[in-house]
Amino acid sequence: MTSAQKLSVEQHTNQGIQEIYDEAASYYQQLRWFKTRLTRLEYAQTEAALLSQFHFSQEKKGRYLEIGCGPGTWTKVVAAHAAEVIALDISANMIEQARRYVGDDANVTFVHGDAAHYQPVDRLDGFFSFRVIEYIDGWQDTLRRVAAHVPSGGRAVICTKTPISVYRGTGRERWFTTGVKRMLGKLQRRLLRRPEPPADDRFWQRYVSPAALRQVLEEAGFTDFDLAPAIYGLPIFWRGTCQYPLIPQFAEPPFMWAFEQGRKLASRLPMGARRMSLVFSESYVLSATRR
Ligand SMILES: C[S@@+](CC[C@H](N)C(=O)[O-])C[C@H]1O[C@@H](n2cnc3c(N)ncnc32)[C@H](O)[C@@H]1O
Repeated sequence: MTSAQKLSVEQHTNQGIQEIYDEAASYYQQLRWFKTRLTRLEYAQTEAALLSQFHFSQEKKGRYLEIGCGPGTWTKVVAAHAAEVIALDISANMIEQARRYVGDDANVTFVHGDAAHYQPVDRLDGFFSFRVIEYIDGWQDTLRRVAAHVPSGGRAVICTKTPISVYRGTGRERWFTTGVKRMLGKLQRRLLRRPEPPADDRFWQRYVSPAALRQVLEEAGFTDFDLAPAIYGLPIFWRGTCQYPLIPQFAEPPFMWAFEQGRKLASRLPMGARRMSLVFSESYVLSATRR
């Protein structure tokens, strides 16, 4: 494959993700963060991880870039502590939702664009990105480019999905049955001479390990790394991501309580043990300070 062909494939994949998030923009935030007490717990856990890594002062200060603001969920949280947030997203529909969610008079400037090609214009006091780098082809270059605009003392706070985790699977599918289901489906279509359904090749994601993320930020001049689990527990709820649908709705609260205690405990473990405890996290936050 020539480099010109490769570039067009990469642009296409980011474009596929743009289409998917444009389509999901109207319901994404409600479904992902606010719909049930389970998703509200995941919101609270992610918010706690974000706030633990930012070290905000009482005073609202600093200009922060958010990469992939989506419907503005974390934009709003950071904007409550910062002087200014520049919120970038590849999906115009997501930006529209975010504008509504954070309010027109908020200290937020929205930018519609692909982070893979984004070039900050201003000096930044830091940047953050929640559940986005896994979709950016060329995330390493994006972080390097943005980091070049952060002076000494600035913060980087990145949240992404945990690669080695009990949550790994295929979203809402039960991974332990999908292999069999797929096989049976294929067999049925062969017997009935039906065509294979076209795969939605627009969606893809990668898993970025804390070590890989740390290396990129280290090379970009960051130090004083910290790591915290974000969504933490076990994927065992009937209403949850359904990897292990064991706990019915009425029995959720004690498990939710235990998982939140687990997150708090894991966040305080020595670094080696904390890294290992990430196996019970769906996502993690890595933060660092510019040298
Ligand atoms: C899973 S959503 C997360 C949204 C939000 N950060 C949150 O946690 O609720 C991923 C977001 O990243 C955006 N995104 C994906 N690839 C991007 C890219 N290359 N440049 C900018 N935004 C991108 C999507 O449009 C979407 O809004």
